Amino acid sequence: MALKNKKIIVTGGPTREWLDPVRYISNASSGKMGIALADASFRRAKETIFIHGPVDRGLIADKPYKLISVETTEGLLSAVLSSLGPDSVLIMAAAPADYKPLEKSAVKIKKTDGNLVIRLTENPDILKTVAIAKENNSSLSDLFIAGFAAETDNTEHNALKKLRAKNLDMICLNDVTREGAGFSSDSNIITIFFRDRSKVELPIMSKADASEQILNCIEKELQSRG
Ligand code: PMT
Repeated sequence: MALKNKKIIVTGGPTREWLDPVRYISNASSGKMGIALADASFRRAKETIFIHGPVDRGLIADKPYKLISVETTEGLLSAVLSSLGPDSVLIMAAAPADYKPLEKSAVKIKKTDGNLVIRLTENPDILKTVAIAKENNSSLSDLFIAGFAAETDNTEHNALKKLRAKNLDMICLNDVTREGAGFSSDSNIITIFFRDRSKVELPIMSKADASEQILNCIEKELQSRG
């Protein structure tokens, strides 16, 4: 089986971008999707690494694979880049913050009358950075890259746009407005899109079962590469 010889790097959970010593920008990702993927990968791959943002410690206690804990999107980027190798598969289920505060206040921001305006600056796009690394580094030419798309509107259009813009091999769309899909739940409803625009639509199922289906698809793609 093709995955037997692979190092699978899974990312999961949110990132945090600090505004001051007590406040941060983040999102509702629990890490459950990434953990389910890492669990399934561990049963199939040569090596599994789970790189995660801040998640409930109980969810990752006693995992038999390597865990790397990060906090910010920049931290996630550097952990991903340093984990990649010639036999890697990268599955980006994390929900990294796209923006961070332009400045972090050294002291707690005080409440004043009226509105508070916070200026944000763009974080690096991890998948786009990895795609560039793959292009410029022949040892990464076999790297298989799977992304996720958490969408609320124009779901298929937006997922396909991300597949192309981030130069992915496949993308797992979850319409996070649907009951039982997306953030924090134990289930998900995923449609997997490939470069040739073909798709596999999965019904609602546990994140554990969805992970097996996603790995089946990756395995099939790798086998078709020969
Ligand atoms: O953690 P759970 O509670 O189980 O929820 C699972 C999930 C909903 C978070 C997961 O299934 C999911 O959809 N993850 C991707 C969320 C997201 O950030 O989607 P996006 O459409 O904003 O990003 C598209 C892709 O680019 C993702 O693979 C993301 O990891 C990646 N990305 C995003 C931002 C960034 N700066 N760099 C990236 O590489």
